[in-house]
Amino acid sequence: MDAKVAQLREMRAKVEQGGGASRIDKQHAAGKMTARERLGVLLDEESFVEVDAFTEHRSHNFGMNKVEAPGEGVVVGYGMIGGRRVCVASQDFTVIGGSLGEMHAHKICKVMDLARKLGIPFISINDSGGARIQEGVDALKGYGDIFYRNTVLSGVVPQISVILGPCAGGAVYSPALTDFVFMVSGTSNMFITGPQVIKAVTNEDVSVEDLGGALVHNQTSGVAHFAYDDETSCLSAVRALLSYLPANNLESPPYLEGDDPVDRGLEHLREVIPEDPNRSYDMYELVESVIDQGTLLEVHPWFATNMIVGFARLGGRPVGIVANQPRERAGCLDIDASDKAARFVRLCDAFNVPLVTFVDVPGYLPGVDQEWGGIIRHGAKMLYAYSEATVPKLTVIVRKAYGGAYIAMCSRHLGADMVFALPTAEIAVMGPEGAANIIFRKEIGQADDPQAKRQEKIDEFREQFANPYVAASRGYVDDVIDVAETRTRLYNALETVFSKQELRPAKKHGNIPL
Ligand code: HXC
Repeated sequence: MDAKVAQLREMRAKVEQGGGASRIDKQHAAGKMTARERLGVLLDEESFVEVDAFTEHRSHNFGMNKVEAPGEGVVVGYGMIGGRRVCVASQDFTVIGGSLGEMHAHKICKVMDLARKLGIPFISINDSGGARIQEGVDALKGYGDIFYRNTVLSGVVPQISVILGPCAGGAVYSPALTDFVFMVSGTSNMFITGPQVIKAVTNEDVSVEDLGGALVHNQTSGVAHFAYDDETSCLSAVRALLSYLPANNLESPPYLEGDDPVDRGLEHLREVIPEDPNRSYDMYELVESVIDQGTLLEVHPWFATNMIVGFARLGGRPVGIVANQPRERAGCLDIDASDKAARFVRLCDAFNVPLVTFVDVPGYLPGVDQEWGGIIRHGAKMLYAYSEATVPKLTVIVRKAYGGAYIAMCSRHLGADMVFALPTAEIAVMGPEGAANIIFRKEIGQADDPQAKRQEKIDEFREQFANPYVAASRGYVDDVIDVAETRTRLYNALETVFSKQELRPAKKHGNIPL
């Protein structure tokens, strides 16, 4: 028996060594941790339980029958984050470059199935050369099996992809199907076709980092949601993110008692929001004052910065914040901002996170690029996402709320449960300048002093329509409040509507404009 136990220990030690000392050194020299070291940072201490350590590949092609692959290039199992269970897969680049073959994929699928059955989050750490070339179609099957499960798990348990090395070709589509993509500057990259193929086909010269590094995907493409300078802060951020989310779609997000008084007055904000609609201010100042102090975890902070989305707590309850940022593109809705907000709204709705929307939007961004790029299709996603969402929806109209963008930003008409407006709110079909030019064009044109007439008509329109009281008189706005009361009123509203139940007609699924 002792000999058998000794053999077991030896076999396990070999698996734990992955590709061996020299490849581990190479991994460290590249500024990367090993697959197991990463799990050590991600999970609560001593909580990791490995499964399928002894899995072996079955490939014989191209001399693979002589290639040993300890652990098959991926470490899988379950463990705890903040005392709550999660399933994990961590690709081991030291073993055949973390390449994905049939049995590698089989291990990942097994823990994905476990995550589904247990109703717990699935976290995938990617560091791989992609499909294991020697395994041909069996490797492709492996990816297909993972994509299928990513889709089945979508909206059932949170899925998080952490890209800590190469992620190329079709391999990028598993992260793309998950809820959040984390990257690290300088070491992680994602692309469908690499620099060499691009050079051959389009004659463009581009480096790996410029093509698919963390900055590009966080700022330009919007593929990734978070970027960090090193792996430790990246993995710690995954832990922080999960603290806002329930384990699955049937649970509520975790309440965390805080010490920030909910009746804290926000008198200082009266000076922050300018009465002059042409002056800008920083929406972060408003959002961060309203929520429990220091709880904002912004998602997509570098992408479509005219829209702010992120998690926060209000009286200890997790909420999803959506807000226009007047400092960027005047807070207009454009293609990227619409995609960003719509995706976040759907994520919150899937995982029972109430939505709090702050509105200061002059409209949709005009331009041929926007029209040809499909702002109609992309903008429709926001209308769909908000209308579809049945979580509690609270809206604060801070200043401008014009036209279709007013409707899109969680108006009463898309099912907001409680709508507050500040006295600075201007709710109308369009701004006074644009409106005067259209409806008083003849009068202005015929006036002795067209400039003066124009100003008179602008003032008249502003007086009559650019305020919150017309909407309030129709009940589209529930109350007009002093900005100083915003935190208290939102907290009260959240507690009131938290237990809301809303049923919709049964259907297979809707057809969101994609
Ligand atoms: C088999 C692979 C591999 C792969 C790397 N290796 N990628 N083996 N299949 N896809 C092996 C290498 O041969 C090498 O083995 C070891 O892993 C480490 O790789 P290196 O090249 O030495 O590492 P590095 O210099 O850091 O370069 C990393 C890399 C490069 C940039 C990822 O390995 C590379 O370009 N790999 C191929 C990428 C690729 O084209 N993959 C297929 C994408 S298509 P030895 O024994 O020499 O140490 C795809 C389709 C999926 O994935 C479709 C899903 C729908």
